[in-house]
Amino acid sequence: MIRSLKYYFATLFIGILILSCSEDINIDLKKEDIIPLPRRIQVAQGSFEMTASTPINLLGDETKLRPLAEYFNAQIAKATGFELTARSKSGASNGINLFLEENTDNRFSEDYSIEVVKQNLVISADTEAGLFYGIQTLLQMLPPEIHADGVQDVQWLVGTGTIRDRPSYEYRGAMLDVARHFFDVADVKKVIDYVSAYKLNRLHLHLTDDQGWRIEIKSWPDLTAVGGQTQVGGGEGGFYTQEQYQEIVDYAASRYVTIVPEIDLPGHTNAALAAYPELNCNNQSPDLYTGIEVGFSTLCTDKEIVYEFVDDVIRELAAMTPGEYIHIGGDESHATKKEDYIKFMNRTQEIVQNHGKKSIGWDEIATASMLEGNVVQFWASEENAKKGVLQNAKLILSPAKKTYLDMQYDSTSRIGLHWAAYIEADSAYLWEPDEYVPGIKKENIYGIEGPLWTETVITMDDIEYLMFPRLTAIAEIAWTSKDNREWESYSERLAKHAEVWDVKDINYYQSPKINWDLEEIEQ
Ligand code: ACM
Repeated sequence: MIRSLKYYFATLFIGILILSCSEDINIDLKKEDIIPLPRRIQVAQGSFEMTASTPINLLGDETKLRPLAEYFNAQIAKATGFELTARSKSGASNGINLFLEENTDNRFSEDYSIEVVKQNLVISADTEAGLFYGIQTLLQMLPPEIHADGVQDVQWLVGTGTIRDRPSYEYRGAMLDVARHFFDVADVKKVIDYVSAYKLNRLHLHLTDDQGWRIEIKSWPDLTAVGGQTQVGGGEGGFYTQEQYQEIVDYAASRYVTIVPEIDLPGHTNAALAAYPELNCNNQSPDLYTGIEVGFSTLCTDKEIVYEFVDDVIRELAAMTPGEYIHIGGDESHATKKEDYIKFMNRTQEIVQNHGKKSIGWDEIATASMLEGNVVQFWASEENAKKGVLQNAKLILSPAKKTYLDMQYDSTSRIGLHWAAYIEADSAYLWEPDEYVPGIKKENIYGIEGPLWTETVITMDDIEYLMFPRLTAIAEIAWTSKDNREWESYSERLAKHAEVWDVKDINYYQSPKINWDLEEIEQ
């Protein structure tokens, strides 16, 4: 009896010690280095600890909430060795709470809030997308080891306080060119993980170009059988079957990313012209192309068969596209006469509309007549961007001098091009969407996108080198309000993200513009 009492008191004492220790651990939420920076962070004293016995409480429609709990569990499983138990509850209680408010006035909202006290953490949002972004923020608040592949001996603490957050722009995107060099489904899924971790919600896939046609179109099978055979440099190329493409679309949707498919027309079409001679004015197919010149190919815009082709392609693509938009390219059609270009782009927009979708085009599209609701993607010509606004079109801003992820950082970068600019980490961050083109204001801007063209990009390592850290600059510009953005703060926050990239083995560019030494920063 005495022995067991002693044991009881000893255990109690140790218990109190542990409790008071964790009470003493103060984590400053403001120093959690979240990218993109949330709109408001209020700091409290103390911390919340996630352990193997922390439940995930599902407050709201369980069928909607369970996949989010599963996603969170999958993200933390390897590093923690835990699988948290998810259970339906009617009110917040100890543990991690996912609260789906489903206010019907806010069906498209991506806002979320996180309230953390010692015993519980509540992520609230009107939509599942909002909860997903709250989960991304929580993953960034946890120690970087949370991304490790094996179980870590780490206390999983997050700071207490409140975060209220909402995006600045609706369309927040990146683009991957899978035409110049082909990337398989697994690579594209990785890119979807990268973009969604930074709260981007669109991945634009540049599916066709002179060097390759990468999406199966069943009514025109040689597009891929012939046009998908090669790539820049003469490698073997490749393409997605419709089933594989569906897998990409579904995976993206599970991370609240909409795939925006692009069929680049009427130029950038050598691969299609090589597959089908009837699309050429001279009825002869050119050779497949493996170089990196642009502006030499065009569909024969006078031929009716060309519009039948466009109709078939858009019909099959629209059936695989849950999103609102199909991108119809329209850039650099230097081999198409101006009047032919306008006629073609007008008719193609109608075809897209007939298949229930809206069109996005590179900024040259604004020289044609924009159908209502269609979008101009500004990349080069301010004049075209303004023409788009005069036609009441919304704009996606992808100024090549700031957002082109394939530009070299400086003249020593091992890959990349520099025809638009060298874009160092600071230059990628230091610009304002609503000041970039005189006369174009915030209300004209649908969003921001960083395109990654792949003339010089062959491997996943290459993708990572050009995307990191600049993808995070695009994400912060697209998400965080202008008055909350500051280079000094962002560049300091990046150092902690580099720790995550190290844990995940992401091959980022160690820009000399950034102090990557966390210890130095914290002093
Ligand atoms: C482009 O860079 N040709 C849109």
